[in-house]
Formats: sequence, C-alpha cells, structure tokens
Amino acid sequence: MIKGDALYSGKAKTVYATTDPKRYIVKFRDDVTAGDGAKKANMKGKGYYNAQISAKLFKLLADNGISTHYIKMVSEDEMLVHACDMVKIEVIPRNYAAGSIVRKYGFKEGQKFDPTLIVMDYKNDAAHDPMLNDDIAIALGIASDKEIRKIRKISLRVNEILQQFFDERGLLLPDFKLEFGKVDKKIVVADEISPDTMRLWKKDTRQSLDKDVFRFDKGDLMAAYDEAAKLIVPEIFK
Ligand code: C5P
Repeated sequence: MIKGDALYSGKAKTVYATTDPKRYIVKFRDDVTAGDGAKKANMKGKGYYNAQISAKLFKLLADNGISTHYIKMVSEDEMLVHACDMVKIEVIPRNYAAGSIVRKYGFKEGQKFDPTLIVMDYKNDAAHDPMLNDDIAIALGIASDKEIRKIRKISLRVNEILQQFFDERGLLLPDFKLEFGKVDKKIVVADEISPDTMRLWKKDTRQSLDKDVFRFDKGDLMAAYDEAAKLIVPEIFK
C-alpha cells in the first residue's frame, strides 16, 4: 500500500490517496485549533496520541459490532481507512451539559442529561456548523430519513460503549462528536474519536483531559493528553 497525493487537509488531519482507490490513509497532525481556527498551535506528539486513541476506540467499536472506517495503523500517527462518502452531519451525543449547549440554551454546566441528548449539526464551516433537525437534513439532501434514524441509533450505541469504557478507567464522557461515512451505501463511523473531539473529565475532580484545556487556557494540553493516553492506551507506554 503506497501513500499517494494529499486529497484533503483539515485542521488537524490530512487524508491521502493510496494505490487502492477504496483505501485512504489518514495522518493525525500535531496541529491544534479552536474557535473555528481562530486559535492555533502545534504540539509535538499530539497527532500520535490522537491516532493511537482513535485506533483503540475504533477497535473497541468493531469488537462491539459497530462498523467503522478503520482498517489498521500504518505508522505511529497514520491509519489506513475505507474510503467513504462522508455524510455532512456532526452528531454530538451529550451526557452532561458543557460547551455550546450551555452557552446557547442556558443549561447548568455539568448537569446530567438523562436520557442522553443527540444533537446534529450541519458540517459546513462557512455556515459555522448550524444545528440541524431531521426535516432540514432531509431537505438539504444530507441523508435520507432511514439513514438519519440509523445514524441516531448507532450514535446512542457508541455512546453506551464509550461511556462504559471510560467509566472503567475513572473518566466521565460529557459529550463527543461522531462523523459518519458511507461505504457501498452502508453507514459507518468515520473521522476520529479522540480528546480533540470529545470531553473527558476525571470522575472525582471533573478536571478536563481534552481540548477544552487548550480552548479555555486551562493548563498544559499535552500533559492532559498524556494523562488521558495513559488511561486509554496504556499499552503504548510499555
Ligand atoms: O462546541 P461544543 O460544546 O458544542 O462541542 C461538543 C463536543 O463536540 C465537544 O466534545 C467538542 O470537542 C466536539 N466537537 C468537535 N468538532 C466540532 C464541534 C464539536 O469535535 N466541529
């Protein structure tokens, strides 16, 4: 499998073609951004941690019967994935109130949502990812009614699997973002699942081990990711 041209470069990852048109390579870079790219930095080793954490969580999902784009790691910070048609929706399961939902709706920071909220945003940087409902998503042609129901069902199941995994490691999962793609018309979990795209709090102190440390200048981001990585992927430290 030979890495080809860069097809797409986002804020923290670059997608490369390979000699197989059905496979891409995703490289996790050390770049970190917040506030729609307004705040930027480069932190050595961040790409490695996010790639390793994402790989572990994709494997966990696969072990629980959830299809993902992940195939295997091809280097420390690059993964081979199934090429997908991306669905332009960002799905955010929310277990505890934090971030934009507190700012926009006045929920109390840290309040528990029971049942979990599933929020869907339109993945469109120019429009600043506005919130969607099912009717708008269907009218925009982003996904069919059936696909949206499937995406919601998978998101709730992924949330259960991840919450249990983190609970066993002394962590709370207030919220996280999922993206989906289609491989031969089948919906799969794509993109990444890492401390860049989730909130992770230590259960006892509610200290953030995620990108909020960078967003809100709460301390040393790499120290937080290091602590998260030691709990999530202890095997990479051996
Ligand atoms: O910004 P907000 O508070 O709505 O984010 C909710 C969750 O989704 C956070 O864990 C955040 O890291 C993630 N997110 C993301 N990419 C976005 C928007 C949110 O990973 N474009």
